[in-house]
Amino acid sequence: MALHRRHGSNEKTVRHCETVAKVAKILADEFEHRGRPVDTRAVVAGALLHDIGRSRVQTVRHGVEGADIVEKEGADGKVVEIVRRHVGAGISPEEARTLGLPDLDYVPRTLEERIVCFADKMVDGDLVRPFDGEVYRFKVKKHDVERLLALKRGVQEELGGDPEKLIFDKIKETH
Ligand SMILES: [Fe+2]
Repeated sequence: MALHRRHGSNEKTVRHCETVAKVAKILADEFEHRGRPVDTRAVVAGALLHDIGRSRVQTVRHGVEGADIVEKEGADGKVVEIVRRHVGAGISPEEARTLGLPDLDYVPRTLEERIVCFADKMVDGDLVRPFDGEVYRFKVKKHDVERLLALKRGVQEELGGDPEKLIFDKIKETH
């Protein structure tokens, strides 16, 4: 939160990040519970900071800018990569070139990166909403729906259960 303040994030971004962190923590806890080790601290920190780059730019480049900010602030490398790779359902090197982004890998690969990327796709503003909402958004924006569906499938396979159902069940429990 101190970093958000220092870099001038707006309230909307902060609330969004807090909600994504809540969702990401639910997933990380469940992986732990099922015996899959996960760096929950990195997941929560990465989720809380994932959109800090929006303090500089609102485009797809906010992942790059956010990674730059948290790296300079001395964040753990895992957190830096979570921030860099949360945009969309990952960006391939070819797309990155087309978008004019630095020549880096933007596909979430580690479990921690995929958890935050997926959690972000479950949250619109500060509202947790069905994954289909994001699928619809991808279709409208002509983004790669297949990659989005693969992101969910990957998390689901590794979890051994439906991550979307888990999130809604846990949220219901706490309300
Ligand atoms: Fe973002």
